[in-house]
Amino acid sequence: MTSAKSKVQLTGAKETLLATLYGRAVDSRAKKPILGDTMAVDTVRRLDYDFRKLRMRGGDAAGVALRARQLDVWTARFLTLHEEATVAHLGCGLDTRVYRLDPGPRVRWYDVDFPDVIDLRRQLYPERPGYAEIPTSVTAPDWVDGLPSDRPTMIVAEGLLMYLTEEDVTTLLRRLIAHTPSGELAFDAFSRFALRAARLNTVIVRTGSTLHWGTDPAGISRLSPRLEIVENISALDLPGIEKLPVAYRAAARIAARIPGGLRDMSRLYNCRF
Ligand SMILES: C[S@@+](CC[C@H](N)C(=O)[O-])C[C@H]1O[C@@H](n2cnc3c(N)ncnc32)[C@H](O)[C@@H]1O
Repeated sequence: MTSAKSKVQLTGAKETLLATLYGRAVDSRAKKPILGDTMAVDTVRRLDYDFRKLRMRGGDAAGVALRARQLDVWTARFLTLHEEATVAHLGCGLDTRVYRLDPGPRVRWYDVDFPDVIDLRRQLYPERPGYAEIPTSVTAPDWVDGLPSDRPTMIVAEGLLMYLTEEDVTTLLRRLIAHTPSGELAFDAFSRFALRAARLNTVIVRTGSTLHWGTDPAGISRLSPRLEIVENISALDLPGIEKLPVAYRAAARIAARIPGGLRDMSRLYNCRF
């Protein structure tokens, strides 16, 4: 680790990792943080990047923190049930989940993202036992073979799968599921309606990224017949939403009443296989 600021030159989907990082940092500085990711604050300080570009508001930051916390809860529960496990954290960006959850000595944790993102991670975060980064596109065919194949595996993908095509999502998940005896998958997904509304999403517009894959709960079984939904939660129903700023809660309450539309725009899924 160095004390000089790290230059950030990421574009498109890679640049969106700065929005989620910043969201967690803003949450951490709030009077009553939801996630309390203090490492994110330190990371933001150490990056040479103008975060104002992303126009994240207080409510956006809280939304990011709620989503991260729910995925932390599902991952932590899995690791409590399986002391000897693998975690494949896909599209990790600069997320500090492995430090937040601090898994036990028999867990092998892999953070996977593009090589330039992993380079940046390595400048910022310390090594730890049982932890490795895999610098690759998740759609590359061979990297999955490097994961242990003899133990339950938790696959976590936060803010990732919407950037892949349906074919890539299906191939990736089938490859991972075929590689391991059993496990769980936790991720967030937009609905197809939300994909069409992406031009209203400031982060997507300002980073010039493109969304491809959207689903609803009925679409999950098409990804793999081995996937069974354990829980799925609308982003508007996440535990802790009551802590959001009043204006955001009021907007969420109104949105939640619109059938088939806004309530289902973004959901978090926990599946087993
Ligand atoms: C919205 S960011 C989320 C980052 C992180 N999960 C978080 O919550 O902070 C999307 C991430 O997906 C990564 N990503 C997008 N497409 C990818 C691919 N094909 N292979 C690996 N990573 C990818 C980007 O580089 C970026 O880190």
